[in-house]
Formats: sequence, C-alpha cells, structure tokens
Amino acid sequence: MEIQRMVHFHGLFTAFLFLLVKSTIPSSLPQGKSLPYMTSDVEEVSGKSFDYIIVGGGTTGCPLAVTLSERYSVLLVERGDAPYANPQVQDKKYYGLPLIHTDKFLSVAQSFTSKDGVMNHRGRVLGGSSAINGGFYSRASDDFVKRVGWDEELVKEAYEWVESKVVYKPMLTMWQSVVEFGLLEAGILPYNGYSLEHIEGTKIGGTIFDEYGVRHTSADLIGAGNPVDVTVLLNATVNNIIFQAKGNESRARGIRFIKSDGSTDQIYEAYLKKPKNSSSWGEVILCAGTIGSPQILLLSGIGPKDHLKDFNISHVLDLKGVGQEMIDNPSLSILVDTKPEYRFPDVPQVVGITKDFKFIIEGGIIPISVNATRMPIAIKLAFPESKGKLELSSTDPRENPSVEFNYLQKEKDLEECTRMAQYLNGVARSQSVTLFLGNQPQNNLMTSPNELRDFCRRNVRTFYHYHGGCTVGSVVDSEYRVYGVKGLRVIDGSTLSESPGTNPMATLLMLGRYQGIKILKERENASQCN
Ligand SMILES: Cc1cc2nc3c(=O)[nH]c(=O)nc-3n(C[C@H](O)[C@H](O)[C@H](O)COP(=O)(O)OP(=O)(O)OC[C@H]3O[C@@H](n4cnc5c(N)ncnc54)[C@H](O)[C@@H]3O)c2cc1C
Ligand SMILES: *[C@@H]1O[C@H](CO)[C@@H](O)[C@H](O)[C@H]1NC(C)=O
Ligand SMILES: *[C@@H]1O[C@H](CO)[C@@H](O)[C@H](O)[C@H]1NC(C)=O
Ligand SMILES: *[C@@H]1O[C@H](CO)[C@@H](O)[C@H](O)[C@H]1NC(C)=O
Ligand SMILES: *[C@@H]1O[C@H](CO)[C@@H](O)[C@H](O)[C@H]1NC(C)=O
Ligand SMILES: *[C@@H]1O[C@H](CO)[C@@H](O)[C@H](O)[C@H]1NC(C)=O
Ligand SMILES: *[C@@H]1O[C@H](CO)[C@@H](O)[C@H](O)[C@H]1NC(C)=O
Repeated sequence: MEIQRMVHFHGLFTAFLFLLVKSTIPSSLPQGKSLPYMTSDVEEVSGKSFDYIIVGGGTTGCPLAVTLSERYSVLLVERGDAPYANPQVQDKKYYGLPLIHTDKFLSVAQSFTSKDGVMNHRGRVLGGSSAINGGFYSRASDDFVKRVGWDEELVKEAYEWVESKVVYKPMLTMWQSVVEFGLLEAGILPYNGYSLEHIEGTKIGGTIFDEYGVRHTSADLIGAGNPVDVTVLLNATVNNIIFQAKGNESRARGIRFIKSDGSTDQIYEAYLKKPKNSSSWGEVILCAGTIGSPQILLLSGIGPKDHLKDFNISHVLDLKGVGQEMIDNPSLSILVDTKPEYRFPDVPQVVGITKDFKFIIEGGIIPISVNATRMPIAIKLAFPESKGKLELSSTDPRENPSVEFNYLQKEKDLEECTRMAQYLNGVARSQSVTLFLGNQPQNNLMTSPNELRDFCRRNVRTFYHYHGGCTVGSVVDSEYRVYGVKGLRVIDGSTLSESPGTNPMATLLMLGRYQGIKILKERENASQCN
C-alpha cells in the first residue's frame, strides 16, 4: 500500500551535478541535499493513500508539502514537469522567454487573456509561478500581518526559513542602478538601501536568482528539508476532489486526476489514508494558484449552484464566494528600445514605493522575441477597488477558466491610474534614465487629465499580482479551511484579498511554511487532547 519511500540517489545526484557543471547548464539543486521522490507514472500513485494530498506544486504548495512531510506522508500533484535542468527556468539569461513561448497544454508558462482583453500568465511547472517570475523578493508589512491575524513570531520564523534557502542579495546591474537613480530623482524617498521590509521610498529587494544568475524556485525548498516523506507526481492534472457524504456533511476523501498529456476520459484516483483514530483524518489542500484553486473547487461541485448546473457538475455545496473577488492590480508600463549592448533580460532588483504604499514601481529588461528586448519601467496600483470574477469555460481542467478583472471600473482606480501615469513619466524622463538611453521613451504620455484617463484605459496591463477567488472570510476561514466541508483547505494566492508587500511571492512562500507548521501543531494538539 505504502508507496516506495524517497529514493536517495546520492551517487546519481552527484554525477548529475557534475554533468551540469561540465555542460555549464545552471543547476539550482541544493548541493548535498536529496531530491524528493518524483514520478510522472500515474500508475505508481493511482489507488494509493496518503495523509495529505497537496494539489499544485507551486510557490505555496512546495514549502507546505515539505513541512507537512516532516511528520506525515504527502502526495504533491503538479500538472507540469520538473524545473531542474530547464535553462528557460533556471538561467536568468532566458528570463521572460517562457512567456513568449507558450502552447496550450505543455509549456512551462500558460498564457490566458482575461475578458478585459489583457494578456496574462501563470506557471505550469514544479515551482509554479516562482519558476517564471521576476524573482523579486520583498516581505509584507507588519501592518498587513497584524490585519490578517497571523502569529507575528511564526511569520518571522517562516520568512527566515525561506530566506535561508532560496533568497539572495542582488548585485545591481547597470540598468537597475539607472532605475534606482531615476526613482530617487522622481522624488520616491528616502533611499533605504537593501531591505526585505515593506517601507516607503526606494530600496533594493531580495531575489531568488543567485550570484551566478541561477533561479531558485519554490521547488528547491522540497530538497532543502530533512529526509522527507513526499511523493511528487508530475505531469498530472487534478480534475476534482472526491467527497464522501455523511449526514448533511461532506468530507474530502481524495482526488481524481488525469495525465496532463492524456485523455480526460482516463481518470485516476488517490485517497487520503484512513486514520487510526476517526478524529484525525488528513486533508486535501489546494495550492493551485489564483486561477487553479477556484477552478478545481468549481469542478468539484463547490460554488454557485446555477453556474455548476450549466456544466452539469453535481452540486456539493453552494458556496457563492468561489471565483468572486478576482483582483488584478492595474499597471502601466513604458517600453523603451534597448541599446544593443543591453540586450540581455534583466530582472527587477530595485523598487520604488510611493507615499502611503500606494504605487509600486520597478524596471526590467524583457525579451519580445528571440532576438529583441525592451526595457520596461512599470508601475502598479497597490490597492485597487475594482473586482471581477472567475467562471468555468470547460470541464477540462487543463483549459483556462474565464476570468474578468474589471480593471479601472471603479472611478477611484481610474483616478489613481492618472497619478500612476504621472509618476511613470517622472521616472522615465528622469535625467538618469534619459541620459542612459540617449533617446526618448517610445510611448509618450499624455498630459491633460482626460488624455491620461484615456491613456489608462487603453494601456492598462497586468503586474502579474492577480489574487482572490477563494478569499479568507468568504471561501475559507482564518485557518484556510473551506467553509461547509471537512478535510479541505485552500492555501495560495487565491485566498488573498490584497496583494501583500510590493510583490506577493515572498509572502506566499512564507505562507506555505507557516500554515504547514500551524497544521502540524494543530494535530499535535488534537492527539494530546484525545
Ligand atoms: C510573469 C510573472 C512575474 C512575476 N514577478 C514577480 C516578482 O518578481 N516577485 C513577486 O513577488 N511576484 C511575482 N509574480 C507573482 C508571483 O509569482 C505569484 O503571485 C505567485 O507565484 C503565486 O503563487 P501561488 O502559490 O498562488 O501559485 P503558483 O505558484 O502559480 O502555483 C500554482 C501551481 O498549481 C499548479 N496547478 C494548477 N492547476 C492544477 C491542477 N488542476 N492540477 C495540478 N496542478 C495544478 C500549477 O501548475 C502551479 O505549479 C509574478 C508572476 C508572474 C506570472
Ligand atoms: C512531462 O511531460 C513532458 C511533455 O509531455 C515530457 O517532455 C516530460 O519528460 C515529462 N516529465 C516526466 C518527469 O516524465
Ligand atoms: C449530466 O450528468 C448526468 C449524470 O450526472 C448524465 O446522465 C447526463 O448525461 C449529463 N448530461 C450532459 C449534457 O453531460
Ligand atoms: C536574429 O538576429 C540575426 C541577426 O542579428 C538574424 O540573422 C536572425 O534571423 C534573427 N533571428 C530571429 C529568430 O529573429
Ligand atoms: C448539518 O446539520 C447540523 C445539525 O443540524 C448543522 O448544525 C450544520 O450547520 C449542518 N451543516 C451543513 C454543512 O449544512
Ligand atoms: C491547542 O489546544 C488549546 C486548548 O484546546 C488551544 O487553546 C490552542 O489554541 C490550540 N493550539 C493550536 C495550535 O491549535
Ligand atoms: C488514538 O487515540 C488513542 C486514545 O484515544 C491515543 O492513545 C492514540 O495516541 C491515538 N493515536 C493517534 C495516531 O493519534
């Protein structure tokens, strides 16, 4: 019954590292640490039972899985492949390329276009969006932590755990120094130097790229623990959760999944282990991200009843909040042509945080084709009021659900957007930036308020910090348990009603660790009370 435990292929692993070094393909495998047991053979997992089943090996799912596995058997199901030895994921030189090389079911980045017409992306690989993102690492404010009611001491420990494993102090590139001076010239003060804290002014943040330009995704956290009881199933897409009804109550008992490159008719199952004491069942935990988690709840029959009826999904629970409160921070960016000598992609290392934490400004260099790059300076509105929703578009779990964010729908957001345009103008036209580029930014900003509003509507884009869909208080309680059913939690970006700090990745990595520790403590408590 018990699946074959972790394989310590230490010798093999050393040989692998040697090969990687020899061929200079970067590796982010934590040296001297063992990898978890990984397989993409669905038959190995089909019909087996585990204490915990985690759906989605992304930013939050990996630290959660490794933490729970310190005491329990864990199955981590990821629809994508492993990130190791994929230069498009690992090597900073190729930052941004996965976003332009997408396909329907296999590429490491999956693109989606919201009903607003804005193109967007999410990760489809072990490591999740931390495998395709800018890697900028910055904690949430103390205020945020207090407001959401987390244990401050445990939060600090969880951030530090993450930081000791995958976070680095960057060496500023030329372009990042220029952006830094531009932010200061635009009046985004004080200058705070290197800091992981969320503080007003201009600062250098942490990064998950090390000094060799190698990315360390959340997947590295799995190999970074003590020997652990975690089975990673790759290339398998979860369809839905299996529930068992008992009286008027449903309890999660397992999952149904398909091969990511297989047919939707070929369905496999994995289960939660039957506990020795009936009070201590394990759980299914969704960590499939802002798009994936609400989608899986809907496919499992949890959500607005009428919507599920349209797809002939048998109804488990009428939970109206599923897919609601979808928020994406509206963003503007100025793209400038890259000088030939700066054609390599560049990740953000510096950030400007304006007064009252309203706007966040960063710069980078991104590829727009195999050969050409652009240098965007981008700004986002930190606390937008406009909200949208997510609905199914298909019962195939590999298809994107339909998402609408309603960017700038609220008057206040549109008003703030005109201020964003002015800030952006200030940075892009700073002496530092113009001297460096030797030419003017390509899209000239308008100056009259009406022109600015129009500019905002036409140019609004994503900063990739979309969140919501399973928010705390409407879909999950303060312990991230889904309301109205037993044995099911959601822990990832979909639970946020506000994007924390400057960028959410740090807090989501932290949240996986934090909730893992909380769950371990909770169960320890329960078994003592028995
Ligand atoms: C291009 C880009 C740049 C960004 N830059 C930054 C940055 O510099 N700094 C920062 O802080 N944030 C950045 N972000 C945001 C940040 O990366 C995300 O907010 C964060 O990674 C989301 O974490 P998550 O755990 O919620 O979801 P994810 O990390 O996306 O994980 C979800 C996982 O679930 C898997 N999954 C989904 N559905 C299923 C299913 N049905 N079955 C099995 N598996 C499934 C996915 O493949 C994925 O691995 C960026 C995002 C993007 C897209
Ligand atoms: C996952 O699927 C991809 C695409 O089909 C394949 O190239 C890759 O080898 C698979 N990964 C594993 C671990 O089998
Ligand atoms: C709807 O589901 C029922 C069983 O739940 C099935 O008999 C019926 O064929 C389905 N209809 C469609 C249109 O899929
Ligand atoms: C890349 O640029 C070179 C010349 O600089 C050109 O010959 C080649 O065709 C370009 N490749 C692509 C894919 O655009
Ligand atoms: C189930 O019934 C009990 C007792 O009648 C009630 O307290 C509880 O709220 C019900 N649960 C659900 C999910 O309806
Ligand atoms: C442990 O149990 C005690 C007493 O029931 C309770 O006050 C405490 O909050 C519990 N702690 C956790 C982490 O569940
Ligand atoms: C099961 O319950 C008994 C007593 O009720 C207790 O002694 C035992 O430790 C429990 N086992 C587990 C695995 O929690």
